[in-house]
Formats: sequence, structure tokens, C-alpha cells
Amino acid sequence: MTTILGLSGSLRRASLNSGLLRAAAEAAPEGVTITIGDIAPVPLYDGDLEAADGLLLVSPEYNNGVPGVLKNVIDWMSCGQGMAIFKGKPVAVIGASPGNFGTAHAQSHWLPVLRMLATRPWWEGRLMVSRAGDLFDDQGNLTDDKTRERLAEFVAGFAGSIGGGRS
Ligand SMILES: Cc1cc2nc3c(=O)[nH]c(=O)nc-3n(C[C@H](O)[C@H](O)[C@H](O)COP(=O)(O)O)c2cc1C
Repeated sequence: MTTILGLSGSLRRASLNSGLLRAAAEAAPEGVTITIGDIAPVPLYDGDLEAADGLLLVSPEYNNGVPGVLKNVIDWMSCGQGMAIFKGKPVAVIGASPGNFGTAHAQSHWLPVLRMLATRPWWEGRLMVSRAGDLFDDQGNLTDDKTRERLAEFVAGFAGSIGGGRS
């Protein structure tokens, strides 16, 4: 069994990115579990990540960069002994936005952070969900089958790189 901790960087009730993460958890292949973390109680996260085989960041894009709330979570997690839990940890970044580039800028802005934390980012797949307003319902649930397929392929590829899941 491969376990992946998934964090959405949005606190919004009908968040596209939280919806994308819920769909990623549903799309996980047999033998892979994506546990959805809640970013509100930030200091509680260390234990979750320590136990996980991988980390899936589902990041909104704000002003062409990373959202402050998710960066704050990662910063909190990295304090003190926290650095050790990131070292060598497989990490993948995806995201959804109503714009044309589907969080491409934000995903690139995570690179120096992931390098500083000595993680093992997974580069073989990319998932930028653009024009996401048309692909999710009013509650932020993913409704588009094509995106669901792309997501399933991404999750299977990431989990497979960690060593889990049958795809
Ligand atoms: C302050 C602010 C800045 C934003 N900047 C961008 C941006 O640079 N690129 C983009 O694609 N979307 C941008 N957006 C739109 C977000 O992608 C959109 O609000 C999205 O729904 C946020 O993710 P969520 O639904 O998971 O909360 C911005 C939104 C806010 C509030």
C-alpha cells in the first residue's frame, strides 16, 4: 500500500483545487491511498507527512505565484525537526484555475521551495487544469470526465514512481 498525503492550498468552501484533490483521491489506483489533509490546523501536519510515502500539493495560483496559505503550511511543517520529513520525499504539484494556464506559473514557483526542502519532485507528469470554472460544479466537485482521466493517469504515474499502485 502506498500512502500519499494530499494538501489543497485553498480554504474556500467551493474550492476548485480542493475539488481536484477529492477527485485525485477517488482516481487513485488499487493499492494507493490519498489521504486529504486539512490545512487549517497547520502545526498538526508533521505526523501526517512523516507517515506518508508521498506528498501531493494541489496549489491554486495567486498573482502568478504560490498562494500564501499553502506556502505558510509548508513553512510551518519545515520548522525545526520538520526539515527531515521533507528530505527525499516524493512530491507532485497540480492545480486548477479559471484562467488559460491552469496554475502553470504557480507550479513553477514551487520549484525553488521543493529544492530547498530537499524533496524528490516528480516531473514526469504535469497536470494544469485550465478554464476550470467549466469543469467543476458549484460545490467545487469535478464534473469533467476528460479531466478525471488525466487526473487518474497523473496519480497512477506519481504513485507508480513511488512504488505503489497497479495501472
Ligand atoms: C488574489 C488573487 C489572485 C489570483 N491570481 C491568479 C493568477 O495569477 N492566475 C490564475 O490563473 N488565477 C488567479 N486567480 C484566480 C484563482 O485561480 C481562482 O480564484 C481559483 O478559483 C482559486 O482556487 P480555489 O478555487 O481552489 O480557491 C487569483 C485569485 C485571487 C483571489
